[in-house]
Amino acid sequence: MAAMDAQEIKKQVGYAAIDEFVKSGMKIGLGTGSTAVWAVRRLGELLHSGRLRDVLAVPTSSQTEMECQKAGVPLRSMNDPEIGGVLDFAVDGADEVDEGLHLTKGGGGALLIEKIVAYAAKKFVVVVDSAKMVKNLGLSFPIPTEVLREARLPAARAFESLGARAEVRMAVKKMGAVITDNGNILLDLSFQKAFDPVKMEEALSLIPGVLGNGIFARCNPEVLVGHPDGSIRRLTR
Ligand code: A5P
Repeated sequence: MAAMDAQEIKKQVGYAAIDEFVKSGMKIGLGTGSTAVWAVRRLGELLHSGRLRDVLAVPTSSQTEMECQKAGVPLRSMNDPEIGGVLDFAVDGADEVDEGLHLTKGGGGALLIEKIVAYAAKKFVVVVDSAKMVKNLGLSFPIPTEVLREARLPAARAFESLGARAEVRMAVKKMGAVITDNGNILLDLSFQKAFDPVKMEEALSLIPGVLGNGIFARCNPEVLVGHPDGSIRRLTR
């Protein structure tokens, strides 16, 4: 078999997450990005064909909300009484995954709602291609943080004291900073030295005005890793 390209691998793991874990009647969270979008499309197909019924979905971003609307996936918020703040299942991509299955996320800027959804799910499945597996998080892909605009400089100083250089994420087709779905800015953190993901997630969370950070070390995901030869490796702690 010819080696799969990156898009085919993303599609394969996105489809697998829905096919293997989602049952009729479930309340599920849907992640953001170029891999998670395949899970949204697969869910839409299975609802349309009648193989799945009565699934309610919480989207993690405006991108995912629009994809769900296109795919005919019924949407709710975490606060809807039918959801009640708890999900049976959530699926999302990741920017990096280390050997302890700690993740970084937020390359697409949706980390805040992504973390609320991932941490509220009874089962959290992460879909990635093998290029996302790393020894240490944060050394080649910056770690995003979502910050109140008023906290930009104080937060940047606090990040420096934790060993990170912070850069405001700038918009491409608009002047100025990227503004998140929640009306805040993103500061991307570059680290030079490896760190303990559990401790760093907590340290970043304690900085005033920092609403969220892209280290996901306090969840227990099952990671589906797609490889160019078409195989999927399943990793759990
Ligand atoms: C969105 O904010 C991110 O957390 C994405 O889930 C993550 O960046 C992975 O995206 P891709 O699947 O597009 O690489």
